[in-house]
Amino acid sequence: MPALHPAANGTLRGAALFAPIAADLAEVERVFSRKLASHRRHVARLVDHLDHYAGKRLRPALLLLTAHACGRVEPAHHVLGAVVEMIHTATLVHDDVLDEADLRRHVRTVNAGWGNKASILLGDMLFSHAFHLASSVDAQACEIIGGATNRVCEGELHQVTERGNLSLSEEDYFDIIEGKTAALTACCCRLGALYAGADDDAVDRLADYGRNLGVAFQIADDLLDLTGLEESTGKTLGTDLAQGKLTLPLIHVLDRLPSDEAAKVRALLVNADTPREALLPYLRQTNALNYARRRAEEFAAAARDALTVLPPSDCRSLLLALTDWTVRREK
Ligand code: IPE
Ligand code: IPE
Ligand code: MG
Ligand code: MG
Repeated sequence: MPALHPAANGTLRGAALFAPIAADLAEVERVFSRKLASHRRHVARLVDHLDHYAGKRLRPALLLLTAHACGRVEPAHHVLGAVVEMIHTATLVHDDVLDEADLRRHVRTVNAGWGNKASILLGDMLFSHAFHLASSVDAQACEIIGGATNRVCEGELHQVTERGNLSLSEEDYFDIIEGKTAALTACCCRLGALYAGADDDAVDRLADYGRNLGVAFQIADDLLDLTGLEESTGKTLGTDLAQGKLTLPLIHVLDRLPSDEAAKVRALLVNADTPREALLPYLRQTNALNYARRRAEEFAAAARDALTVLPPSDCRSLLLALTDWTVRREK
């Protein structure tokens, strides 16, 4: 098993965790940059910003690790790695408008720098480039990616329509995060396996790995929004509270507290200016952070289980290690 230190600082890009796919990730970066290069000054300015705007590259890494673990990496994987990262980046550019966030990937958001209108158009352009690029692979790739992107949009729409709903159920919460986050991570693993020639059962099981990992990843993200550090995550935190988005720990708090105390928490939640710290005593009292971590662990365990479809390999070990990193990450 390769040396893994992902949990130490949460670093993924350039870390031991991605060492076996470093050359493939570099090729994905080349495809990504080549596709978006524009001689048009107004487009180039915004695209240049994306050069300083690289995240962990988790989605192309999932696609490539899955491909390696299934036996081979093809040129199609590099193209599809760029496609899924473009879609992910588009959702972030739009999400930061929705969440009125200023910081992303340690730099200012596109909306903070250029305004909401430019952000919407840049996000649209990224979606459009993604599908234009996917069409150079084949129709099946477009169909799979289109299906996943539909679910992502449905998840974000579901979330926006539930804004301010302080009675949001766990069932609705999971439906939201399976859409907005897990549909894309599942798609990455499906594409990695499919274009490596894996059989139907393995493709489905690996998509299941990606879906469970994505749910665990979003639960961890929602914990970071409540308790994480902006210096580590590099993004504006506390936006779930500010936007009236109820997440798993707070759903648990409201479920568990006696009604008079739950009313106090609701009063804090309706005020968009409530600092995160004001909720900590209630989160402690109901053990809500541990509860959410435990639920994330359950999804990570289901993801691990799905990996048993693969023969042992370095890349399977890395996919396994990612399930641990996902729930413990600090960024
Ligand atoms: C952020 O995803 C959006 C969520 C689904 C929580 P990442 O944490 O993977 O963002 P980057 O790509 O590293 O910036
Ligand atoms: C949005 O969730 C995830 C997307 C699919 C865009 P969040 O709003 O929690 O993501 P962050 O915290 O801004 O990265
Ligand atoms: Mg957000
Ligand atoms: Mg978040």
